[in-house]
Order: sequence, then C-alpha cells, then structure tokens
Amino acid sequence: MASTRRILDVLRHGQPDETITVKGWVRTKREQKEFSFIEVNDGSSMAGLQVVVNQDVPGYADTIKRLSTGASVAISGTLVESPAKGQRIELKAESLEVFGEADPETYPLQKKRHSFEFLRDIAHLRARTNTLGAVFRVRNAASTAIHQFFQERGFLWVHTPIIGASDCEGAGEMFTVTGFDLKKIPLTEDKQAVDFGKDFFGKQAFLTVSGQLEAEIMAMAFSNVYTFGPTFRAENSNTSRHLAEFWMVEPEMAFCDLLGDMELAEAFLKYVFRFVLEQCPEDMEFFNQRIDDSVLATADNIINNEFARVTYTEAIALLEKATRTFEYPVEWGLDLQSEHERYLAEELFKKPTIVTDYPAKIKAFYMRLNDDEKTVSAMDILAPKIGEIIGGSQREERLDVLERRIQEVGLDPAPYWWYLDLRRYGTVPHAGFGLGFERLVQFMTGMGNIRDVIPFPRAPQEVEF
Ligand code: 4AD
Ligand code: MG
Repeated sequence: MASTRRILDVLRHGQPDETITVKGWVRTKREQKEFSFIEVNDGSSMAGLQVVVNQDVPGYADTIKRLSTGASVAISGTLVESPAKGQRIELKAESLEVFGEADPETYPLQKKRHSFEFLRDIAHLRARTNTLGAVFRVRNAASTAIHQFFQERGFLWVHTPIIGASDCEGAGEMFTVTGFDLKKIPLTEDKQAVDFGKDFFGKQAFLTVSGQLEAEIMAMAFSNVYTFGPTFRAENSNTSRHLAEFWMVEPEMAFCDLLGDMELAEAFLKYVFRFVLEQCPEDMEFFNQRIDDSVLATADNIINNEFARVTYTEAIALLEKATRTFEYPVEWGLDLQSEHERYLAEELFKKPTIVTDYPAKIKAFYMRLNDDEKTVSAMDILAPKIGEIIGGSQREERLDVLERRIQEVGLDPAPYWWYLDLRRYGTVPHAGFGLGFERLVQFMTGMGNIRDVIPFPRAPQEVEF
C-alpha cells in the first residue's frame, strides 16, 4: 500500500500518475451504472478528494453498498487529472477497505443543511461537518498565531493554575472545587457555614476566572509573559457570547503603561488575523460565502486600519448624542452594555474601538487609579458584532493605593497577601490584557453563537460531551 497522504496535501500538490493512499470518512456517494463517485474527507481541508471507483475494483458490489455517508475508509489508487470542473485532480481507486460503516437509517449527518442547534446536540459528530470543520481549523491556526506572535517578541509562555483560592476579577462568579462528600459536608461549630478548613485544600478553592494575578507574579521575574488556557465563570448568562468555560490569552508586561498595552493588543489582533487568512484561505472564503458576507472585509479592515480610540467619558457623550434609542440607560458611571459597545464599534466607528479610562467603580480592583481618582487606566477593545473581545489595564503598582482599592470594593485582603507582596518587593509599572479566545474566533468567522466555536461548549445546562 502506498504511503498515506493527507487530502489537503493531495489537493494542493498531488500529480497525475502518483499512487497514493488516503484515509478518511465518506461525505457523499453517487452510484452510476458502471462506477461510483465518492467524496472522502479527512479533516485536513474543507474540500474532500473525489474518488472514482470502477466496477472492476475487487469486491466492488459489496464494498460500495457499505460506503454510505459517514463510513470510514482507506482507498489506494492512482491520481488522474479530473475532467470535472472545480477540481484539479481525482483519485482512481484500485483498492478499498472499509473500517466502519455508518448506517444511513440512523447516522444523523445526512447531506442537507442541519441547524447549529441540532448539531450542538450531536457535538460528538458535528466536527465532521463543513462549518464546524472550518471553525476548528481556524481555531487551530489562531492558536498557533498567538504563540508565534508572543514567542517572536520574547514573551515567556507561563502556565497558570486552573484551581486557585482568590478571585481575580472580584466579581464572585466562581465555581467551587471541593473534595467533600456532598452528603456529609462538615459545618463550622456554629453550623452557619461550610468548614472548608476540612476540605481537600484546607480552604475554599475555585476554578480560576483568570490567570492574570499569577501572570503578574511571573512578569515580575521575566518581564514579558503570557498565558493561554481555560478559565471559568459561574455567571448565569445565557447569551451568544458567554461560556462557563472559555479560553483566555493574557499577556502581562513589566515596565509597560496603558499606551504600550493598547499598542500590543492592536498589533496582536492584526497579526492573528493575517496569519489565519494565510493559513486557512478556503475556510475563510467559506465563512464569507456561507455564514457572514462581511468576514473578509472585516479581516481586511482589522489588518489595514488603525483601531479607533476614545475615552469612556467621550464614549458616553457619543452615546448620549446617538439618534437611536437603547434598552439600557446611558449615563456616566454606568457600565457599557453590549448594545452600547456594538453601537460604537459597528455603527459609529465601523472598526474595532478601544475605550479607555473607565470609572473605577465599574472595574476590577487591580486597575491603576488615574490622577482624577475617579477613573482607572483600563482599556476594552470592542469589536463590531461581538462587543468586548479584550479587557485590559495598567495595574496598580502602588501598595497603599492597591490596599485602599481592595478595601473599597469590599474584598477580604487576606487571600491577596502574595499579590500585595509584589508591590512591596521591586514593584514596577506594568500592564496586560485578556483576550476571550472564543470571541476572537467568533469575530473572525462570523459565527453567531459562541457555542459553535469551541468543540465542547460549557454553558448553563450544557455539559454533555
Ligand atoms: O474582561 P475580563 O473579565 O478580564 C479579565 O479577566 C482580566 N483579568 C484580563 C487581564 O487583564 N489579564 O475578561 C477578558 C476577556 C473579555 O474581554 C472577553 O473577551 C472574555 O474574556 N470573556 C468571556 N468569553 C466568553 N465567555 C465569558 N463568560 C467571558 N467572560 C469574559
Ligand atoms: Mg471585561
């Protein structure tokens, strides 16, 4: 048997008369009188390889019967120029092996359009569809781009923990991790609270909402670092942009201010878009044709235009002047809702928009207090159609101010003792941001629901696979 080739490689580089083997899953079969066409896909590309199976192939009658959509096969044969339009090359089968059949009576993926809702219920099979296949290839390329961007700039990739004892965002949206037998949870002496002292870690532990605080520790040794890993939010938000488990990219830079932070974030997004367009041109073309016809124009806009920049105070003034009405009130001091964010990025600026200097009251305790004592050196990047995709800030590096801020927001300072130590020993101005990776993939592909850009979404009432 000839060596197995990936179908992407065959489609791009295969030459007539080469003998090859491909392995994959049947997408379609068309039986004619004396031969059959099958299209085989192995996940390496959107397009499958067309295979012509003549009657004279050994075991033809029996094998062809078993080859329905979804069946797994190995096919060896010779490449020939394809007379069909839209494809350069096809495979003339000489031998076929069926690994596993897929009963057409029950196999849920038939050759028709399935709704994304339906596909979510069969997440164990949906990666075999055109759209989800394209999404996961883009996701892979974007991940590679992220590492490449930071590695080229000398950032250290640091692995921050998934289980922790502090709340980075101070929003209390955390899942508890416990080793308790839930039928016998020990209570404190007064029976008013759970005695986490007796739990596995000796205190209450949580799934992390962000690796930022630990990334700050590492930045105070390596200057420039980044994390890229799963984070968890126990917020009961049933929207098309929230997951309970999502991946976040968090760079953290010592000796950096808000301006440097914004510049890095913009260069980063441009880099990732360019890389994905280069690596996945067919997939991106597909999204543009089938999902959202502004996908390629958006990518072009990101790569070639500077992002808009406004302060929160300016943004509020612009929203107050808007001729349209909003569901949620617009007022200095209130957080921007997704409808406001989208208005700014989508309708007003028509490109990613960086909003800076938010009121301290609506942002996390670690953001650096500005001289006006009312706002913090924060920045959010808002994307058309998505809203916030990046949230970042310069960090409060002054011990006394940080202690005060922790008090003001009503957090117990005890779990943050080590975070405060960073301000006691060799503190420096520093900044960073967090990119919601699934929101980025949504933004790139035009996919409407965040559950369809991660292989196995976790959301309220959703944990099957
Ligand atoms: O704005 P957030 O909460 O910021 C942080 O966690 C900081 N510690 C980041 C940092 O400065 N290092 O979250 C960052 C990004 C958001 O902009 C959004 O894109 C994404 O994470 N995000 C979510 N994505 C999917 N589902 C959710 N529930 C998300 N919550 C936030
Ligand atoms: Mg945020």
